Amino acid sequence: MSYQRRIIVTGGAGFIGSHVVRLLVNKYPEYLIVNVDKLTYAGNLENLRDIEHQPNYRFEKADITQHEAIAAIFGKYQIDSVIHLAAESHVDRSIANPMDFIQTNIVGTVVLLNAARSYWNNNFENKRFYHISTDEVYGSLGKEGYFTETTPYSPRSPYSASKAASDHLVRAYHHTYGLPVVLSNCSNNYGPYQFPEKLIPLAINNIKNMKAVPVYGTGENVRDWLYVEDHARAIDLIFHRGKVGETYNIGGHNEWRNIDLIRLLCDIMDKKLGRQPGTSQQLIQFVKDRAGHDLRYAIDASKIKKELGWEPSVTFEVGLEKTVDWYLQNEQWLQHVVSGEYEKYYEQQYAQR
Ligand code: NAD
Ligand code: DAU
Repeated sequence: MSYQRRIIVTGGAGFIGSHVVRLLVNKYPEYLIVNVDKLTYAGNLENLRDIEHQPNYRFEKADITQHEAIAAIFGKYQIDSVIHLAAESHVDRSIANPMDFIQTNIVGTVVLLNAARSYWNNNFENKRFYHISTDEVYGSLGKEGYFTETTPYSPRSPYSASKAASDHLVRAYHHTYGLPVVLSNCSNNYGPYQFPEKLIPLAINNIKNMKAVPVYGTGENVRDWLYVEDHARAIDLIFHRGKVGETYNIGGHNEWRNIDLIRLLCDIMDKKLGRQPGTSQQLIQFVKDRAGHDLRYAIDASKIKKELGWEPSVTFEVGLEKTVDWYLQNEQWLQHVVSGEYEKYYEQQYAQR
């Protein structure tokens, strides 16, 4: 079949990547979507059960740091576009073991850039390299202000430093070689299929099991939360209509102190599980703070709103309820991911706190 576009999505078996793959496969039957994923602890093909038999979907198990494997995939599918999400994504893991982050996030991104440049061989017509990044590259805000696309980079964890390096390299390939790149930097996502090492699914899982809910430091840190399907919609829009060489910030305009968010989640869970009001809040436990813990992230998303007409569609109250319902209804998914490697990580991570 002759497809209109032939797109690699890296990290498509992860949290955000699986939502992006699902959206593209369903919305564009005329596109071929090739999910390239190494299947680390965070990659899970169960996230894509509902679309795995669609005729325009392919899966390739490959490591983005391996040039030959990646170059072969470009050739095999005659790739004209890349949507790059594969990364080591958890800040606490980057503090414990930075090297995996340097390898995948920096070296892996350069391998993809080289493979695209070499396969496209200076013919960049109808080609696109879309790099997905994070608001953490901008550093930490005080009580006021927002990150815009021109905020100077100031990453403060091995994770955010590795993402910042990858952003710089993507822009450098545009300026130096003319590669048609576009970038976006998004705030904290939440929703179905998020690995339960991240705050919201970790808290849902612990509350469900009447386990302590660890809140780092005093819980004053602020994050700007966005429902994952709204991020996937923004990625679809930027992929199609974002200007080459440009960066777009994506955010929820939805700032919450961690402690307030956890209290709200406890109250929602009490209702869903038929517990006495206040029961789950008793599980909250303040633990040793994250090293170098960024105080506040908040995105100014006015550029993407003005230029591409995107804004969040799901309110936090609705998104959080949907998320809780999903985790309660998908017990088996949760069981499968919390077993094995994750259990070991959890014990190590929280034993010293
Ligand atoms: P995730 O950890 O859930 O998924 C990452 C995926 O990448 C997994 O499927 C994993 O198997 C794969 N992967 C890791 N190393 C690989 C390698 N060497 N080769 C091939 N595949 C590999 O991550 P996520 O939360 O879905 O984040 C996806 C992207 O979005 C990342 O680039 C992240 O920096 C960015 N981002 C995340 C958030 C968020 O809140 N989660 C916010 C903004 C930006
Ligand atoms: O801002 C975008 C980033 O959001 C993404 O680039 C990252 O990939 C993603 O992991 C996320 O980073 P955070 O560090 O903000 O997310 P995390 O869920 O790990 O933590 C959210 C907040 O909750 C943060 O202030 C740390 C705190 N926290 C986290 C955990 C896991 C706790 O208080 N207790 C916990 O057990």
